[in-house]
Amino acid sequence: MLIVTVLALAALGVSLPWWLPGRVVALRVWVFARVNGNEAIPVPGDLVGVDRFKEVYSHPAAGGRSDGAALSDLFWYWLSPGPEVHQEHLEAGERYEAVARATRAFLAVPRAEAEELTRRCVARELTGKLPEEPGERTWVRLRDLMMPVWAAFYYEVVFGEPCPPAARDLIVGNADDVVTALKCCGLRHMDRRHRLTRYLLGRLPDVRHPLPECLSPQEQAYYLQGTFFNTAVVQMSEAMAHLLMVFAQHPRVQDRAREGDARYLDRVLAETQRLYPLFGIAHRITTDVIELDPGTKIPSGSVLCFNYPEYHRSGHADPDRFDPDRWARPGAARNAHHIPFGVAANRPCPAWRLAPLTMRVAALEILRRCELATAASHTRSLPNRGPCLLTGRGVPSSTAVPLLFMRVRDRWEDVGRSLVQLALGTYMVWDARRLRLCQRHFASVRADRPLM
Ligand code: HEM
Repeated sequence: MLIVTVLALAALGVSLPWWLPGRVVALRVWVFARVNGNEAIPVPGDLVGVDRFKEVYSHPAAGGRSDGAALSDLFWYWLSPGPEVHQEHLEAGERYEAVARATRAFLAVPRAEAEELTRRCVARELTGKLPEEPGERTWVRLRDLMMPVWAAFYYEVVFGEPCPPAARDLIVGNADDVVTALKCCGLRHMDRRHRLTRYLLGRLPDVRHPLPECLSPQEQAYYLQGTFFNTAVVQMSEAMAHLLMVFAQHPRVQDRAREGDARYLDRVLAETQRLYPLFGIAHRITTDVIELDPGTKIPSGSVLCFNYPEYHRSGHADPDRFDPDRWARPGAARNAHHIPFGVAANRPCPAWRLAPLTMRVAALEILRRCELATAASHTRSLPNRGPCLLTGRGVPSSTAVPLLFMRVRDRWEDVGRSLVQLALGTYMVWDARRLRLCQRHFASVRADRPLM
């Protein structure tokens, strides 16, 4: 009897990586749903089918960003400091227009300049981090590898001069803290973020384009921090980690992309963004009634949650298969359910032009220097930060043993991490509800300017 019990416990222990993380994730989703309440209308869902996803997302009444959704308190908590002037969370109006105009000016980097800047940042920031000799091996986490590159890139976009190492470290410290908290892998450390705010406050006179005059100097620093040194750096590092993970998982795709055919690289990027969209859900608060059909209405003040992964899966044959060539079929891009940068009619990403062109250059620069391989799991939220083995090109060698080690380590890390995410995620949801950053902000705006 004792032997049976011991064997059963041993089997349970050894099999932990295969069943525990999935269950813990389900529990976390359940806790989040309980704490956040049932205010949200999922799209696609029972009320709005996938066929009307884009129509509802593009509807002029699907325009509210933060005010009126309990969910916003959590986003504001993660994006602090300065979520009230973050472009993504400003309500429509003059302030939003001024901020969006400034962002457009900074991001209007001519193509050749953007490509050259990417090459320079990759060369400078990745020297010593990639294998230099044929056959030499380096273990990396792709998100960590790429973050200094985009920190340096967006520093130069904002200030028009090469990024000093000390500023790069401040930017990486800020962006890494935000994305780690967002994924519930760590708590937020406001001291790291405030250090960057103080630095930016001192550098306001040095920026390349005028900052919105309707913002105070403190708010201007928050604007730069939120848009360029948080969102831009986090999104670009995550997007590149996904792209490089895909190459590491598909050696033939990697070899073909290395040949430099721009159209093929675009298909790989489109397919990567289809399967691993950076946004899980984008929410909007309706500012008016949306009439779907006679008798079916979405009331004003509803919280619509647009589900990117579900939309991207729908309307594609064999949607879970990674297949860049699906984008080569005639009319594929035009008819596809594919919105990696949002929808044009409702506040799409202002970096929709700049981001892909710089990603292409960075990917080719890395593929030229080394071969990538991984056996780690690749999920949309990528909490493992993309473990990858880089090998200097030129000497064929077997990666079977290191990849076996990577697979086992990744599975076991997943066990510990899923428990950490459950505990920290629950705490942060509770803390965000307690602080009510968004609700308190709008209450104070209304108190200053009472509605007539
Ligand atoms: C591959 C990289 C990127 C992807 C896939 C991406 C994706 C997106 C998506 C889907 C949205 C719309 C979300 C919604 O409808 O609520 C968005 C909005 C936004 N993104 Fe990006 N993004 C990327 C890079 C960047 C970069 C580099 C910046 C730098 C400035 C940026 C700044 C913003 C801003 C400010 C918004 C809010 C737009 C508004 O409300 O007017 N993004 N992004």
